[in-house]
Amino acid sequence: MRLPIIAGNWKMNNSISESIELIGAIKAHDLDEGVEAVVCVPYTSLNEVKRVLEGTTIGLGAQNMHWEESGAYTGEISPAMLKEIGVDYCIIGHSERRQYFNESDDIVNKKVKAALNYGIKPILCVGETLEEREAGKEQKVVREQLLRALKGIEGHEIENIVIAYEPIWAIGTGRTASSDDANSMCGFIRGIIGDEYDETIKGNIRIQYGGSVKPDTIEELMAQRDIDGALVGGASLVADDFVSLINY
Ligand code: 13P
Repeated sequence: MRLPIIAGNWKMNNSISESIELIGAIKAHDLDEGVEAVVCVPYTSLNEVKRVLEGTTIGLGAQNMHWEESGAYTGEISPAMLKEIGVDYCIIGHSERRQYFNESDDIVNKKVKAALNYGIKPILCVGETLEEREAGKEQKVVREQLLRALKGIEGHEIENIVIAYEPIWAIGTGRTASSDDANSMCGFIRGIIGDEYDETIKGNIRIQYGGSVKPDTIEELMAQRDIDGALVGGASLVADDFVSLINY
């Protein structure tokens, strides 16, 4: 059985005090213990959020990291720095980073490897643009992103990775992929993992869907065979909404 994982991606939202307030409101609710909940918060809030999360089962994630341990990389944050804070997860290869910060598959691959080396679980994002989907290329695009991101990663490491399928056209648009389309791509991804690794890994790897997931769409998405969770932007910024996602 795969443990469902609902992760909030706060993106560039919430000051330190707003973060503390939001986490306080989330943890005041009873959360389903059969679901892993994670919040991926801005760097500036990581330390304080870690403190407020103490004694809860909610995991902490960052939204990006550099792949080197230290060095002359002005403005970057290393996996060692995140590990020191006690970060459990790190989103890697989000489409916003690929699109606005020129993150290539090669960089994504370096970051996934670095995260694994530091015991940080990558939430690896893949997904096609609307143009690519309309041209019928979505599987080709996602397959290439996935294989390049996982290059050189061994079977024993792969189960520490969560894959998030986020079609770019569904992010922040209010336009969710249908549960069939989302499930079909998640199944396609699982199939690739099976081909590249083995049946056990194929059965164990967790695959999330992301893109305008809301309290009224979560149940149907989570009922699909190959969807094991959600990576949530907007709805993770509202305590009641995020709690209803966790308690779907
Ligand atoms: P929205 O849920 O706001 O569409 O964002 C999805 C996303 O990008 C999560 O990483």
